[in-house]
Amino acid sequence: MSALNELHEEIRHCQKCELARYRNRAVPGEGAEDAEIMFIGEAPGQHEDQQGRPFVGPAGKFLEELLGLINLKRQQVYIANVIKCRPQGNRDPLLQEVIACRPWLERQIELISPQIIVTLGRYSMALFFPQKSIGKIHGTAEKRDGVIYYAMYHPAAALHQYSLKETIKADMLKIPQLLAQVKNMPEAEKEPEIKQLNMFGV
Ligand code: URA
Repeated sequence: MSALNELHEEIRHCQKCELARYRNRAVPGEGAEDAEIMFIGEAPGQHEDQQGRPFVGPAGKFLEELLGLINLKRQQVYIANVIKCRPQGNRDPLLQEVIACRPWLERQIELISPQIIVTLGRYSMALFFPQKSIGKIHGTAEKRDGVIYYAMYHPAAALHQYSLKETIKADMLKIPQLLAQVKNMPEAEKEPEIKQLNMFGV
């Protein structure tokens, strides 16, 4: 079994927070182990909880449509969530649930080692762009240690608020250019800062 599949198995048996008592299935994440782009949503909804797969309900349908705009299929990217189990009644995740679940996401990022991390919605954005507002930073990217972090609205937001649909499409269409940028980045820039400091013996 690959390290990623082993991690998925661990997540399926997680008992780190109360959500484990109410779930039908945990939703570890899925996609290509060597994905260049990783999408991180909020938490499983009802459909995801039933199937154990991320983004398989209406928001997932729209995410697939968005991926199609940049000629990608969901199997070519990796899709995960901040929270791996459905909060009852789709309530917002609690801070202690985000904290309990975070190590899973960190291990996923480590194993996938994506070039671009796309945050979908406020909860995912808050992990990587703390104190920022989605209305201000959607469609903007930040490069850290050779990885591009890119914030987008959650696809479900466009289903509730029709006017966001074109905005989220336009934001998705910027991704290929970001990917090209990260691929053309000199190797030295991709090294984590700590390694560069070490090279100078600091
Ligand atoms: N919304 C999410 O944030 N994640 C899912 O997996 C489904 C809907």
